[in-house]
Amino acid sequence: MKATAIANANIALIKYWGKRNKDLILPYNSSISMTCDGLWTKTTVEFGDYLEDTIVINDEELKKDEKDVQGHIERIRRMAGITKKAKVISESNFPVASGLASSASGLAALTLATTTAAEMNLDKKQLSILARHGSGSASRSIEGGFVEWLKGEKEDGSDSYARQITPKEHWPDFRMIACIVSEAKKTTSSRAGMAQTVATSPYYEGWLKSIDQDLLHMRDGIMKKDFTIVGSTAEHNALKMHATMTTTKPAIIYWQPATVEIMHAVMHWREQGLESYFTMDAGPQVKILCLEKDEKKILKNLSELDGLKKTIICRPGDAAQLTDKHLF
Ligand code: PMV
Repeated sequence: MKATAIANANIALIKYWGKRNKDLILPYNSSISMTCDGLWTKTTVEFGDYLEDTIVINDEELKKDEKDVQGHIERIRRMAGITKKAKVISESNFPVASGLASSASGLAALTLATTTAAEMNLDKKQLSILARHGSGSASRSIEGGFVEWLKGEKEDGSDSYARQITPKEHWPDFRMIACIVSEAKKTTSSRAGMAQTVATSPYYEGWLKSIDQDLLHMRDGIMKKDFTIVGSTAEHNALKMHATMTTTKPAIIYWQPATVEIMHAVMHWREQGLESYFTMDAGPQVKILCLEKDEKKILKNLSELDGLKKTIICRPGDAAQLTDKHLF
């Protein structure tokens, strides 16, 4: 009863922001992402004769008040009808809880490893739905390439899952450069941030009104490999999401000075003919979208900026998968 899974993080090109059902994690809008090969989490789960669950994430034992992971294991244990306690060891190659989609790769890897260790045999749709219960964006990390999480209509959430738009081979020269400007844990979780937005931002209605158009452009841009459509739609969509965040009460501003510095730099390069776009999530990091042909030039330009700590280059990546290289 032991299994290990690796899942890549995903970065949304059209964001998920706001829940219509908080218990089942059902979103108000569909979202589209790229699964990123450079940002991964590897997790080993074993059910055995342990006295209690132990969960170690990046060498730190999980505190008892961090309920998400514990609750997810409990959920799967109930579904599988087992009572054995679990030992979980998990590692990510990037900072956790700083707006780099660690919950997506983390909960997707945990879902695949735990259900396999519990000897359940779930298909991708079932895995995506289950991962969604752990963290909404994790539903998209079950699949590889370009992915859409369908918001679904049903009350029970059975039609709210992620499916692939195109595999990674469709657009191998698409790049996302994750620019790390701070490795500190964020002060407002995305869960709290989106609840506050739905409750208090006067612009949330506008966000929802314009989302179908963004989704349409994004699907079309991805299918045609039209970088201008994909990049400009993603940037605009990210700015709209941040506009709803900054207009909550109290305001949520995830940006740091270096975040804004990079945004300006990207816009400036674009004016000069170097085509790139930015997107940001619930944290200060910027993700730059570009094509392989411009990657080196952009990295060189970035090295001249002050606030940037580190870059991670991501290509379209694989779906979550099992491996026999266990962590213990
Ligand atoms: O799945 P969560 O609760 O980590 O929320 C993710 C929210 C954003 O990263 C801001 C947007 C998205 O679609 O990933």
